[in-house]
Amino acid sequence: MAGAAALVMLRARDVAREIDAAFDHLLAMPGDPRDRLYAAMRHAAIGGGKRLRPLLVQAASDLFNISRDSALRVGLAIECIHVYSLIHDDLPAMDDDDMRRGKPTVHKAFDEATAILAGDCLHDLAFQILSDEETHPDPFVRIELVQALALASGPAGMAGGQMMDLEAEKTRFDLATVTRLQNLKTGALIAVCVEAAAIMARLPAEARLRLHGYARDIGLAFQIADDLLDVEGDATLAGKALGKDAAAGKETFVSLLGVDRAREQAHMLVDQAKAHLHGHGAEADLLRAIADYIVERDR
Ligand code: IPE
Ligand code: IPE
Ligand code: MG
Ligand code: MG
Ligand code: MG
Repeated sequence: MAGAAALVMLRARDVAREIDAAFDHLLAMPGDPRDRLYAAMRHAAIGGGKRLRPLLVQAASDLFNISRDSALRVGLAIECIHVYSLIHDDLPAMDDDDMRRGKPTVHKAFDEATAILAGDCLHDLAFQILSDEETHPDPFVRIELVQALALASGPAGMAGGQMMDLEAEKTRFDLATVTRLQNLKTGALIAVCVEAAAIMARLPAEARLRLHGYARDIGLAFQIADDLLDVEGDATLAGKALGKDAAAGKETFVSLLGVDRAREQAHMLVDQAKAHLHGHGAEADLLRAIADYIVERDR
């Protein structure tokens, strides 16, 4: 396990450096009245977060010899959607949070209107990046990437899950409904990281299914770990306020199963995720290590 954590940390550090540099380049200040918008995007996108999604794209790309540049640009696009989702998730109309990634949230550091626009623009930037020739030379691959990320972000993915999450404050959901909520809210965007590598590798349907099994299982385990951290994590390490789910009366895996059974469930999902990789050798070690890291993490 210690080896797995070290492997994840090492690669994550490189990916974080590359993602920061790419955002710095993409979001250069224009030097006109849009500066406030760019500053807000830079505040949210640069210098923070685990960069788990870009790391997952790299790890899945390791299986198929996909170029590092393509993997980085796809990871960057998915991170754009993730950062946009965090900016909007923190708004007063949603979770009303003051801290994110150890810094004031965008609407606190700037204002609500700027935060909404910064989120909108990061969303748009994601598709600008994917549809660019630099991301992949094959236009059919590019359109498939665009479609996959659109599906994972919209009503059948993250945004749909966020709607269910808001409803969870008012309704008592059962375990099956909470599972669906988590799969949409968090799982879809995690799954598309792995799916994107399969698209770039032009993998046949059956092989995609096995990889999808891995992605679905770690996606759910990831959100269970987030809910566990919300109950028993350290806010300084997490860089955000905790204890919010219970305060909002939200049904989560932890509220429904209790801490111990939720953790058991997360570990079971990780074992199941790794089982989907049994046909692969050392080239899948980073994917295995990420699965372990997801439930052992403290932030
Ligand atoms: C937090 O995601 C929001 C969820 C989907 C649970 P992360 O835990 O990946 O946040 P960062 O990117 O490291 O800040
Ligand atoms: C947010 O889930 C998931 C998103 C789609 C942004 P949470 O509301 O649980 O995320 P945190 O705990 O604020 O990071
Ligand atoms: Mg939320
Ligand atoms: Mg939140
Ligand atoms: Mg949370």
